Amino acid sequence: MKKTITILLSAAIAIMSTGQIMASGGGYPLASADVDVDDQASLQRGAKVFTDYCLSCHSAKFVRFNRVADDLGMTEKQVMGNLNHLGVQFGATMTAVMTEDYAKESFGSVPPDLSLVARSRGVDWLYTYLTGFYAESGKTTGHNNAIFKDVGMPNVFWKQEGVKEPVYEEHDGVKVLTGVKVVEKGTMSTQEFDAMIRDVVNFLSYIGEPNQSYRKSLGIYVLIFLFFFFGIAYAMKKDFWKDVH
Ligand code: HEC
Repeated sequence: MKKTITILLSAAIAIMSTGQIMASGGGYPLASADVDVDDQASLQRGAKVFTDYCLSCHSAKFVRFNRVADDLGMTEKQVMGNLNHLGVQFGATMTAVMTEDYAKESFGSVPPDLSLVARSRGVDWLYTYLTGFYAESGKTTGHNNAIFKDVGMPNVFWKQEGVKEPVYEEHDGVKVLTGVKVVEKGTMSTQEFDAMIRDVVNFLSYIGEPNQSYRKSLGIYVLIFLFFFFGIAYAMKKDFWKDVH
């Protein structure tokens, strides 16, 4: 029995670490977003960043303001006053200000809906993307991005984060982009800026699956139930079979 458990455990650890190796294999290193969807204060700050800086271009068409209020512990007044800049109804979905035609003309591509982006890209990718803009002259936006080459999105936080430059390393004679660094300070320190990005990524993670906190806590209750049920089932089994032996 002990041996079987050891084998199973080593197999599980081996599978998990291969996943990690594969995720980090090649390409630009993704930074850990380290978000926590149970942190309501962070989600509230993230919602503000999202509606202030992203909703002008991107929609989140599966997300309603009233649902955000419920989930994030905010009142209707707070949501209508701080998040709903277009003054749409409390029960309306988060729709971008910009029309698709206009966006295509200005940026060459339509900003995608962000409702499910945390699920398609993953939170680490989002965090690395949003902290990965660097200055590059010759680009229409004045920026390029470490993990989204020639991105059409302008760097919306250029004022806060300051000027970032790419960092290259030589690998077998090939210049590889391995990071970005601040060369001119913005209005925020790197820590403040990264914390703000963490909050908005946390919010994107929440909207990607608004029930995830509930699902996880439910999972724990199910496990506790199964644990006790095992005890009861075992006691019953012993009782039923006691005359057979
Ligand atoms: C001025 C318009 C504009 C604003 C504001 C803006 N974006 Fe974008 N964003 C774009 C465009 C355009 C693209 C598509 C880029 C491309 O395809 O080259 C994009 C792409 C993205 C992508 C990549 C999606 C994918 O999976 O390919 C993410 C993630 C994203 N934006 C997040 C954000 C977040 C978060 C904010 C707010 C902090 C934001 N954007 C603000 C215009 C904008």
